[in-house]
Amino acid sequence: MSLEDPRDLFSLTGRVAVVTGASSGLGRSFAAALAGAGARVVLAARRQEQLLQLAQGIEADGGEALAAACDVSQEADVEQLVGDTLERFGRIDVLVNNAGITRVVPVERDTAEGFEQVMDINLRGVFLCCQRVGRVMLENSTGSIINVASVFGLVAAGQIPQASYAASKGAVVSMTREIAAQWARRGVRVNAIAPGWFESEMTGDMFQDKRSMSWLRARTPMGRAGRHEELVGALVFLASDASSFVTGQTLAVDGGWTIV
Ligand SMILES: NC(=O)c1ccc[n+]([C@@H]2O[C@H](COP(=O)([O-])OP(=O)(O)OC[C@H]3O[C@@H](n4cnc5c(N)ncnc54)[C@H](OP(=O)(O)O)[C@@H]3O)[C@@H](O)[C@H]2O)c1
Repeated sequence: MSLEDPRDLFSLTGRVAVVTGASSGLGRSFAAALAGAGARVVLAARRQEQLLQLAQGIEADGGEALAAACDVSQEADVEQLVGDTLERFGRIDVLVNNAGITRVVPVERDTAEGFEQVMDINLRGVFLCCQRVGRVMLENSTGSIINVASVFGLVAAGQIPQASYAASKGAVVSMTREIAAQWARRGVRVNAIAPGWFESEMTGDMFQDKRSMSWLRARTPMGRAGRHEELVGALVFLASDASSFVTGQTLAVDGGWTIV
């Protein structure tokens, strides 16, 4: 590690990073950024075509990428993802648990099935990926896991009612701390990012709606939504040796949403 050239701390050259939910939105940007920082990336999600397209783009830019169809809520798929990654790259250094869905409905009108579907992907999926990838990292005594939570794992949404989503993200924040504590002496760090508002398939309707956007701007201390590239600093920091003494934390990247 170099005090003279701190940029070395952020390098991911030679590392292998798995990104779930890489077929669209933030996951796509995360995968591209990790590849840009030197990592070989594994792109996981259900829509294979989008993954292949992204993998081609990364390889055209001189990187290495593997597209892996995977439903994170299915144990067999996650096993396959780990197996395919080891077969192609032989190791896993970074895992970004980004796959997620939301469900905007007032709690009094919600259904148990809807609640379970959100939990299956947002919580069970994160648990399974942490566990299966974590086993590989523990064997190598090194690794960094980054769970993508949400500001709604930290504070309530209310006007955009999503109890199941908020519950799943709150649980991700808590599980991040717990797994981090369990693995802290074994070389594997676990942290979370809690994004505020960013445009994606998930938030597309909201970004098209003028009233919602003026509410968002009024409610956010910085007065605007985030840009995807504004998550990259936190991502690369947590993925790399720059954060070697940081574990169990949730870093909000939210323009100040959670400070007021
Ligand atoms: N955008 C925001 O403002 C915001 C704010 C806070 C937190 N987040 C979080 O950021 C993450 C990414 O969301 P996004 O905004 O980028 O939304 P998005 O564009 O809808 O992306 C969601 C991704 O998750 C994947 N996914 C969904 N279910 C899956 C499953 N069962 N197995 C594997 N992959 C699955 C989707 O791919 P397939 O459909 O191809 O499987 C897609 O790639 C989510 O965890 C979300 O909660 C977003």
